[in-house]
Amino acid sequence: MNVNDSEKIVALLRDEGYETTDNAEGADLILVNTCSIREKAAQKAFSQLGRFRMMKERNPDLILAVGGCLAQEWGQNILARAPYLNVVFGTHNIHGLPEFIRRVGNNGSRVVETAFAPSVKSLNIMARPEKGAVSAYVTIMQGCNNFCAYCVVPHLRGPEESRPAEDILAEVETLADHGVREVTLLGQNVNAYGKTLGGSPGFPQLLRAIGRIRGIERIRFTTSHPRDLSEDLMRCFAEVDAMCNHIHLPVQSGSDTILGRMNRGYTRGQYLEKIEGLRHYCPEISVTSDVIVGFPGETEADYQATLALMETVTFDNLFSFKYSERKGTAAVGFDRQVPEKVKSERLQRLQALQQEHTLKRNRMLEGRVKVVMVEGKSKNSDRDMTGRTRCNKIVNFRGGRKLAGKTCSVLIKKAHLHSLRGEPAGGAKDPCSSK
Ligand code: 5AD
Ligand code: SF4
Repeated sequence: MNVNDSEKIVALLRDEGYETTDNAEGADLILVNTCSIREKAAQKAFSQLGRFRMMKERNPDLILAVGGCLAQEWGQNILARAPYLNVVFGTHNIHGLPEFIRRVGNNGSRVVETAFAPSVKSLNIMARPEKGAVSAYVTIMQGCNNFCAYCVVPHLRGPEESRPAEDILAEVETLADHGVREVTLLGQNVNAYGKTLGGSPGFPQLLRAIGRIRGIERIRFTTSHPRDLSEDLMRCFAEVDAMCNHIHLPVQSGSDTILGRMNRGYTRGQYLEKIEGLRHYCPEISVTSDVIVGFPGETEADYQATLALMETVTFDNLFSFKYSERKGTAAVGFDRQVPEKVKSERLQRLQALQQEHTLKRNRMLEGRVKVVMVEGKSKNSDRDMTGRTRCNKIVNFRGGRKLAGKTCSVLIKKAHLHSLRGEPAGGAKDPCSSK
């Protein structure tokens, strides 16, 4: 979501005459788009700012801007701490950025804009995909009303707000006209899509409408909240041809006690029922998830329940985090904080188990032919191209640059932890097509 926000910022600033550069030293404007989901992300932003501050000392004309969740949290207070910043803009203020920067340029003033404002305007800012891009993000909603006890998002991104369906469909049509064939729909809780628009269309209806747009071959979305995942949505995996067979469904914990304390709104049993439902409609669906270890009050037994849930589901991949206390969230006041050492040790064991599961799931694809949408050159070898299967696995295979943007049938030869190795499938004369 932050990557997409950055893309939107770039699109807005291009219209002001700015271009992106890889050379920070030569830049007129440096903008740091921050995240504060965990303390580590916030620390990264601080160290970046420290580095750019030194550049500004060498070049006083440099405009230094900071946006995103940390900027939202800091608000006015930041200028006392970091007076070298020219612009501080919050999560609802991206659309104002060109004007803020002009203000700085005109009179050298410092601008802090972090008010929550009704923001169809910010919802409707469109990123512009690079020339030749086949894949794009599309925002369908912002904010979150869930208030999970550990999470800072509702505090910094405001209440849930869905973007009007006609605006979303118009954007996807424009993208398709420009050659985009895969869209990833973005929102903190996409399953609640439509609630702030009177309930219609809901998320499944939106997916069906996008599935009818010519040229869109792949639809992905993130993130789904298990509580709001309806049977109708499960059915979309079977009925909408363009739907990719992958879902990211964060579970957070396998213990009912912890899920209750986290305010997640579902039990372990209900989560497992959702997985069963998804596998009923889409037997080959790949399932990924998020887990937090060391939430306040998590006992070894609670933690074991998470490992047991992992054994039951066998996730294709899992993003796991040590609980990180965030200011203003309910969990700050919770008793029985888990010591750092215990958190680290639990995380390590959990990640070792997940590695086994990831390999096991990836190995199931060995010997099979998968359709890969080619994204570009592989990072590891100039002679290889890289792309993704519909189930969102990265596949590397021998091939030249002319394959970028094409769809290839690839025989999976070897499963690794983070990717699959394949070769263009034999039989068909040309295993790749531009559709
Ligand atoms: N500490 C650790 N992990 C967190 N997440 C969100 N807030 C916290 C926190 N305070 C994780 C959740 C969420 C993912 C995006 O980040 O697992 O799904
Ligand atoms: Fe945070 Fe929970 Fe909302 Fe996800 S659903 S953004 S974890 S409050």
